[in-house]
Amino acid sequence: EEEYLEETQHNFNEKLQTLPRERGWFGHLFRYQDCWLDTFSLKGCMLVQNHFRARPTDIILGSSMKTGTTWLRTLVFTTMNRFLYDFSSHPLLNTGPHSCFPCIDTYSMGEIGIKDLEALPSPWLLATHFPYTLLPEAVTASGSKFVYIWRDPKDVLVSMWQFVNKINPKEIPPIGLNEAFELFCKGISNFGPFWDHVLGYWKVCQETPNKMLFLKYEDMKREPLVELKKLADFMGHPFTMEEEKDGVVEKIVEFCSFEHLSNLEVNKTGSHQINRDTAIENRHFFRKGQIGESKIHLTSEMMDCIDRITQHKFNGSGLI
Ligand code: A3P
Repeated sequence: EEEYLEETQHNFNEKLQTLPRERGWFGHLFRYQDCWLDTFSLKGCMLVQNHFRARPTDIILGSSMKTGTTWLRTLVFTTMNRFLYDFSSHPLLNTGPHSCFPCIDTYSMGEIGIKDLEALPSPWLLATHFPYTLLPEAVTASGSKFVYIWRDPKDVLVSMWQFVNKINPKEIPPIGLNEAFELFCKGISNFGPFWDHVLGYWKVCQETPNKMLFLKYEDMKREPLVELKKLADFMGHPFTMEEEKDGVVEKIVEFCSFEHLSNLEVNKTGSHQINRDTAIENRHFFRKGQIGESKIHLTSEMMDCIDRITQHKFNGSGLI
């Protein structure tokens, strides 16, 4: 394990010198294979590309940051493990939503090592923020299933801007909304451009619908029961008639709701260790959890501008 980490570190140091860089949201961002990554994710990406193999039974949750990853994680985990845990003694009552299964972007970099990952029982539930195009064949051709979530980019921008200013260390001056807006529109955001991220997964979903389920935050907010049933079907664990009659779908939706999870002690005071040096307080993953809250923060010019980019980028894709 030590050896491949050293090799990656060496390649990473060399690569870093050659990549275009921009001032980003949490420090610098580097353009690697058409995607903007911070140094931490860049190293993680190189590790994944060179050393990670997924298994055909894996379920991989793909998303850009701030699109509803936390929520989807809890829904996937709770649905897949519904025969294992009772709601009164459920692991999510005491474990933050990001600690219930690993994110491959950070694996072997402190959160969890390759050996730990390989030791997990099948099927693996995994998450990633990497664009589909950055994932190696050992993942994309593994037979794993993907669940992708996306969200109105205006809400993504505001959620991201607020998140960054909460988690960045105090000595880093806060990023202003105008600056955040400009960077986001130029595609310079972690794992961005945001629109390309969505389109990359969408293309695969259209070509191989059995392999990818596309979910939208807004649809999940409006019709959580319908979307959760879709998710369970897709993951190969559909709800039985009996479960539906017993209200299991409603119970999972309620258990994973913003109101329930954000009020748990573990999510008010606990934190999630992403690597040896960095922990994020769980409460920062829960802010408002609403649709369209960005209109309170963005000017109408800003909103129009983002909508125009979305129209332009997604035109003809069937996404809008
Ligand atoms: P807001 O900042 O708009 O409130 P991610 O999990 O990908 O980081 O996304 C975070 C966004 O999802 C935040 O949006 C957060 O409040 C919202 N969120 C977190 N848990 C949620 C839940 N259980 N239901 C709905 N939204 C949730």
